[in-house]
Amino acid sequence: MGLVTTTEMFKKAYEGGYAIGAFNVNNMELIQGITEAAGELKAPLILQVSAGARKYAKHSYLVKLVEAALEEVDIPIALHLDHGADFEICKSVIDGGFTSVMIDGSHLPFEENIALTKRVVEYAHSKGVVVEGELGQLAGIEDDVNVSEEDASFTQPDEVEEFVDRTGVDSLAIAIGTSHGAFKFKPGQTPQLRFDILAEIERRLPNFPIVLHGASSVSPEYVKIINENGGKLQDAIGIPEDMLRQAAKSAVCKINIDSDLRLALTAGVREVLWQKPEVFDPRGYLDLGRQYVKELVKHKIVNVLGCDGKA
Ligand code: G3H
Ligand code: 13P
Ligand code: ZN
Repeated sequence: MGLVTTTEMFKKAYEGGYAIGAFNVNNMELIQGITEAAGELKAPLILQVSAGARKYAKHSYLVKLVEAALEEVDIPIALHLDHGADFEICKSVIDGGFTSVMIDGSHLPFEENIALTKRVVEYAHSKGVVVEGELGQLAGIEDDVNVSEEDASFTQPDEVEEFVDRTGVDSLAIAIGTSHGAFKFKPGQTPQLRFDILAEIERRLPNFPIVLHGASSVSPEYVKIINENGGKLQDAIGIPEDMLRQAAKSAVCKINIDSDLRLALTAGVREVLWQKPEVFDPRGYLDLGRQYVKELVKHKIVNVLGCDGKA
């Protein structure tokens, strides 16, 4: 099967009350760990690439690695641009074979966000590619942008219909209390998701797929492995998995996970390098990182997303 768009996946996810995992990738081990997990569980999958990841690994390497994965597993996979900052990067990945893009105009004034998103939608749709827009701003870090908690703002439900109508976007990322990065909340802080805002958006946009960014749960298991093997990560709190499960049953059809993958891969690499200092063959340490990524993704598919067997 070749790469697909998210149209069919989201339609089935919306109707079936589950979500598709959108996992960030930037190397072969991540792509293999994630696709093997989804392949074995027959789960539809979104692989997403940030501008930083594309710069690191190079566009063509990532596309070819994902194409190679498609030869190994029999599941629908969409290749998505994460947090596209401008029209040019969206056009470049569309021309280069991606099937889905995000144009992130969430930091712009409403009218400017609409104008930019609409321009990307017109180009993307003319090439059969789907577009995710965003309203509202998450706290946290992505590439060089660091949005402080004070600058973060929840999505305003009274803006969503006009935004979707005027831009023609295929899905909408919203801010309801998730946040980017591994250190989302300080110890003692209780993570809260604004399910009331989500319900109001769902009411105003019937049958429309919603996206949650910043949805890593920051498993203490991987932080523990890292810190027991020479790491120095502070205690971290992510989005509780029961909240994500609840979201996956609603209009939320795409759940973005990056930080959890970083922690899993690093846990495996650290464990080998710390326990076996004589190892210097990269395969000797990357293999365990890849295995931890695979286990993590299987856990998310079954226990959080509910998309196993839906391919
Ligand atoms: O939302 C941001 C993603 O975690 C990508 O992070 O820009 O550091 O690759 P990155
Ligand atoms: P996390 O940092 O919570 O994994 O969020 C990833 C994300 O939203 C990618 O767009
Ligand atoms: Zn994001």
